[in-house]
Amino acid sequence: MSKRQRAAARRATIRDARMDDVEAIHALVTEFSRQEFMLPRSRSELYDSLRDFEVAEVGGEVVGCAALSIVWEGMAEIQSLAVRDGYQRRGIGRRLVKACLAEARRLGALKVFVLTAVPAFFERMRFSYVPRETLPHKIWSDCVKCVKFPHCNELALAIDLPPPRARARRGAGDRGGA
Ligand SMILES: CC(C)(COP(=O)(O)OP(=O)(O)OC[C@H]1O[C@@H](n2cnc3c(N)ncnc32)[C@H](O)[C@@H]1OP(=O)(O)O)[C@@H](O)C(=O)NCCC(=O)NCCS
Repeated sequence: MSKRQRAAARRATIRDARMDDVEAIHALVTEFSRQEFMLPRSRSELYDSLRDFEVAEVGGEVVGCAALSIVWEGMAEIQSLAVRDGYQRRGIGRRLVKACLAEARRLGALKVFVLTAVPAFFERMRFSYVPRETLPHKIWSDCVKCVKFPHCNELALAIDLPPPRARARRGAGDRGGA
């Protein structure tokens, strides 16, 4: 990666995914699912869940993606987080996770979890380990589709978000209100 590309990566735009991003998201997810970092997603699944996705764009090209999937009351999951080789370790993954957490807060989620083979990255994002058994049974419907099931190397991590009322109070404080 050239100096100019490194500088551009630092200025990546994080935005909601659009229909014309599906091919790029599909390429990223397919590449990293081959390396067993995530589940593969068909184009059909990506169109179905496109509104869950954020993408990172550098110079008009999609170089990263992440999805926030609503699981159950108060709970959401980060899925399909990927940053293209050559653009990693430039803060793009962090910004994608932050965008997912902001969306989770907006939706009223109290807990966001992830199943991951890179727990150290999520620890940097302030996620903590949780026993898999504490996660809703619904997530197993995805797990059973995985070729690795039931011998999986992924660990569960989660982050708690403040309840909406506490957020509203904090927001009022931030604006200098009562
Ligand atoms: C994991 C991944 C998304 C991280 O994205 P990234 O853009 O490289 O991460 P960032 O540059 O934003 O890193 C943020 C912090 O995490 C650290 N970090 C990044 N990747 C890490 C890893 N694999 N292990 C430990 N720490 C890591 C960085 O050093 C940085 O630390 P800092 O807070 O001290 O600055 C990216 O490496 C990737 O796409 N990996 C392959 C697919 C994958 O594993 N996806 C996760 C599926 S759940």
